[in-house]
Amino acid sequence: MRSKVTVVGAGNVGATTAQRIADKGYADVVLVDIIDGLPQGKALDMMEAGPVVGSDATVTGTNSYEESAGSDIVVITAGVARKPGMSRDDLLFTNMKIVGAVTVEVVKHSPETILIIVSNPLDAMVQHAYNLSGFPRERVVGMAGILDTARFRTFLSLELNASVNNISAYVLGGHGDSMVPLIGNTTVGGVPVASLIEKSRLEEIVQRTRDGGAEIVGLLKTGSAYYAPSAAIVQMVEAILFDTKAILPCAAYLQGEYGIDGLFAGVPVKLGAGGVEEIIEVELTPDEAAALKSSAADVQELVDAMAANPQ
Ligand code: LAC
Repeated sequence: MRSKVTVVGAGNVGATTAQRIADKGYADVVLVDIIDGLPQGKALDMMEAGPVVGSDATVTGTNSYEESAGSDIVVITAGVARKPGMSRDDLLFTNMKIVGAVTVEVVKHSPETILIIVSNPLDAMVQHAYNLSGFPRERVVGMAGILDTARFRTFLSLELNASVNNISAYVLGGHGDSMVPLIGNTTVGGVPVASLIEKSRLEEIVQRTRDGGAEIVGLLKTGSAYYAPSAAIVQMVEAILFDTKAILPCAAYLQGEYGIDGLFAGVPVKLGAGGVEEIIEVELTPDEAAALKSSAADVQELVDAMAANPQ
């Protein structure tokens, strides 16, 4: 029997995620959205690609959660996206309401599922979903670090004319302006990046990474990125479904790791059939440790704002 993955939100991020999974054929996909006809139409269109791409996966579009019952993984992308000039944090209260309502429905129908949260502001939304789900921390994880790291690796590969496959890096912390690229752990074919790119240029590349989401929003004008975000989501889905134990930067609930307690932050985690099976503590320089703490403080501010405005 194929696995079952539900994607909530049939906008660009959700639909592209559903498409990537359906095309590969290893899971049946349920696409949920509140807009009548949208998930149904996109799902049918995706399934009709099956004979061409060689996939037997079923794709079901629906406005309700019944069809999502018993999902192995549920990806929540629902919410509004940024417009030019908006920060991810500007979405807080609108998306809190949406993600909260979705989480309650999802958990009712799939009490054993693993939740991957994608809606922004990411770290606050995953915390909200975690609180409402009542799930253990292993089964609630946020997507952002893979995306931020992929952007960093892309810019480094362009700078050095090197293969992305040879660039190994971690971008940790919150999915916001204070994200923390670990320069000391970034290597190109095993060579530390700091010996290949001079400091001021490297700082520019780090800044472009921090602004990576806004750069796309500025170009698209009507929405935010979705090709790279959906690729990052699917990497997490595959690590869980195939129990690969891949170590990937994701938003995980920390209980003392990295000196952070009771808060989600982007850190390297081992993803497998159990979800977040382990939090990997890499050694940080004092500067990186301080930057991670300060990034976590930014997340805490949003979490406090949500607590002060329960809905
Ligand atoms: C981005 C948005 C989706 O980083 O957060 O592109």
